[in-house]
Amino acid sequence: MAYSAGVDVGSTQTKAVIINEQREIVSRSLNDTGANVVVAAENAYVAALTAGNIREEEVEYVIGTGYGRYKVTFGDAQVTEISCHARGAVHMFPGTHTVVDMGGQDTKAIRVSPAGEVLDFCMNDKCAAGTGRFLGAAAAALEIPLGELGSTALRAEKAVKISTTCTVFAESEVVSWLGKGKKIEEILLGVHQSIASRSLGLMRRVGVDPEVTFTGGVTRNIGMVTALNHLLGFAVNVSEDAHYMGALGAALFAMDRIVSGRIPAGESAA
Ligand SMILES: Nc1ncnc2c1ncn2[C@@H]1O[C@H](COP(=O)(O)OP(=O)(O)OP(=O)(O)O)[C@@H](O)[C@H]1O
Ligand SMILES: [Mg+2]
Repeated sequence: MAYSAGVDVGSTQTKAVIINEQREIVSRSLNDTGANVVVAAENAYVAALTAGNIREEEVEYVIGTGYGRYKVTFGDAQVTEISCHARGAVHMFPGTHTVVDMGGQDTKAIRVSPAGEVLDFCMNDKCAAGTGRFLGAAAAALEIPLGELGSTALRAEKAVKISTTCTVFAESEVVSWLGKGKKIEEILLGVHQSIASRSLGLMRRVGVDPEVTFTGGVTRNIGMVTALNHLLGFAVNVSEDAHYMGALGAALFAMDRIVSGRIPAGESAA
């Protein structure tokens, strides 16, 4: 039995996925990327091997993806995260037309073909507004654990309109609304709505038709899933492995290379 692996070294979190020849996930792991990107990639991979009780020799091909993909020193090749999220999303949800990936630092909208190829994509500019980091800044300002942000927002009956588009100013805007007596949940609902509408803008640039598949760590936030569903007017696909979709896509590309026996050097096209 041959295995392949994908390691997605994101700006915020590093994900590893191991799949078998049936292209089923047999193991996964996640850790913060932190300052030492090489070590983060190694740790994620070793944790996935251990969790799956798989020996390194049994994994025939490893592909690195994400912003730190060239730091996957044990990898055989690299593929861009755009291609990997597209591939993972279409594997899980074959009816996908548009993928929205919300990570720590970037939000990306990707238009995909039924085969999982990237037809078009666009992402937020250098600013992290509309990403996990923006949510993290709001969580810190309100002293709410990240895991409770979404459920807290969903308790609100109305939303405070968040005007800042900058993560750096998000904290001061949130604090100023608190000072004006607004409820925490109303402020948070506003934060989620502002991020959802920003990501809808990105999706519209590439074309947004059902099915839309939501990937990345922010999928764990039920408030963001709900805000997107509300704005789009239909439900997005969210797999329980949505956070691992880039790593899954990388592992799928790696399995293709095992199966075809072709091992091209270097990075494949986005
Ligand atoms: N349990 C959780 N609840 C809510 N949000 C979460 C949870 N776990 C992670 N997140 C969010 O997911 C983000 C990380 O997502 P992800 O791992 O997709 O980012 P990344 O790939 O490192 O970043 P990028 O793709 O921008 O380089 C965090 O910033 C956080 O906001
Ligand atoms: Mg990412």
